[in-house]
Amino acid sequence: MVTDQYRLIGAPVAHSLSPVMHNYWFRSLEISAYYQADLVTRDELEQAVMQIRASGIKGFNVTFPHKKSILLLLDELSERARLIGAVNTVVCAGSRLIGYNTDGVGFLQGLFHHFPNLAQKQHLSVLMIGAGGAAYSVAQILSETIAERIDICNRTMEKAFHLSAACGASVLSDALTFAQAEQHLDQYQIVINTTSVGLMPEQDHLLIRLDHACRHTVFVDLIYQPRRTALLKEAERHGFPVLNGLSMLVYQGALAFQMWTQLVPDSRSMESYLENNYLS
Ligand code: ATR
Repeated sequence: MVTDQYRLIGAPVAHSLSPVMHNYWFRSLEISAYYQADLVTRDELEQAVMQIRASGIKGFNVTFPHKKSILLLLDELSERARLIGAVNTVVCAGSRLIGYNTDGVGFLQGLFHHFPNLAQKQHLSVLMIGAGGAAYSVAQILSETIAERIDICNRTMEKAFHLSAACGASVLSDALTFAQAEQHLDQYQIVINTTSVGLMPEQDHLLIRLDHACRHTVFVDLIYQPRRTALLKEAERHGFPVLNGLSMLVYQGALAFQMWTQLVPDSRSMESYLENNYLS
């Protein structure tokens, strides 16, 4: 009989690979547990959290659109979740709900796995496209580790200024228009698209032209489905190294899994398993 229960709450969740990933790890580590995705709309969040408290569930993940709104419903926050202002992982310690954010560290571990040379660097210049929730998690970890400069360009300039100001507490940072960003692309060693533009292939389009990029600039998109957004296709066409969001999904999930079970799952083989079986 399966004993421990875990959840993903968000809307939509049907497309999520998290259930496949966590249930695979539970089976391979012979843990009697089950992870399921529950569709929870904005209106249902408070009620869903109350039910989780009463249910004896061991932990859960939080995805769009609840990563910020869940903060007020938890009992405790990790320092990182508090700094970012968003939670993606909750540990249920008895009836206490403790919120963490593993997105940023998961992103960095995935990046270092694919580009180990970046782990030795310290003074990198990074361009982030987008200034939504995901951008904050990634910017925060980069500002603590390998970045000396993080510039932000975003369709809504006000949000670019806001994230740039937050980055400015620890690294150099400017808010740029798309035109300014593409003009100065040769200054960046890493370009990261955090926008949702590539999610719908029929609406996907390039937000910046890549003509001025450097030969070794790494292009990253946080989207993994489709495995190549317009940005990554164009970067590959130019011969630049690219990385999609699958490694971030796997490494953020592995960190959540460790918090829940105190066991380290196999992230490397999970990434190839998902890549080969689930991505188009
Ligand atoms: P997430 O939590 O995944 O980051 P989000 O907070 O909704 O999601 O942020 C989405 C990001 O994608 C934002 O930077 C958004 O730009 P705006 O701040 O201008 O809304 C960006 N985005 C979404 N659709 C876009 C589009 N068609 N063109 C340019 N940027 C877009």
